[in-house]
Amino acid sequence: MPRHVVLLLSGPNLNLLGTRQPEIYGTDTLLDHVRAARRAATERGWDLEHRQSNHEGDLVDAVHSGIGRVEAIVVNPGALTHYGWSLHDALAAFDGPIVELHLSEPRDRDPWRHLSVVEPLASARVAGEGGAGYPRAVALAIDAAVADAGAPDTGDDADRPS
Ligand code: DQA
Repeated sequence: MPRHVVLLLSGPNLNLLGTRQPEIYGTDTLLDHVRAARRAATERGWDLEHRQSNHEGDLVDAVHSGIGRVEAIVVNPGALTHYGWSLHDALAAFDGPIVELHLSEPRDRDPWRHLSVVEPLASARVAGEGGAGYPRAVALAIDAAVADAGAPDTGDDADRPS
């Protein structure tokens, strides 16, 4: 049975979560966050795919692979948030809700973190909530996809729009 899918993307250095600057990003690992995000999707009857890369082109490819296949994207682009224009352009080609996610609040940090190339494309932004932001961002993305499509949030094929 086809399922509704939300794609979670994780940018550079997020693979180091757990040991990377724990005073800023906490001690939970990326796997912990992905599990919490997946639980939020599963509770709504959706599947969650996750892709982490330290390379912008891989994330561009992951967005391309989601076009026409996944219904929403949650993206924590890491530092690419602030300069990743090819990621911006890929996301601009995605026809579905995009939620921008950060563990910290970049606007309260270095001035170079204040620009987000994703923000103009995002239907919602979740930042500064630590790990709690992952399930919340997934819920927002699914809610937006459901609202956009008049689609179900049950994962039940019977009420998928034709
Ligand atoms: C981050 C914030 C970015 O500024 C930083 O480069 C990251 C993580 C966050 O989740 O708070 O790598 O996206």
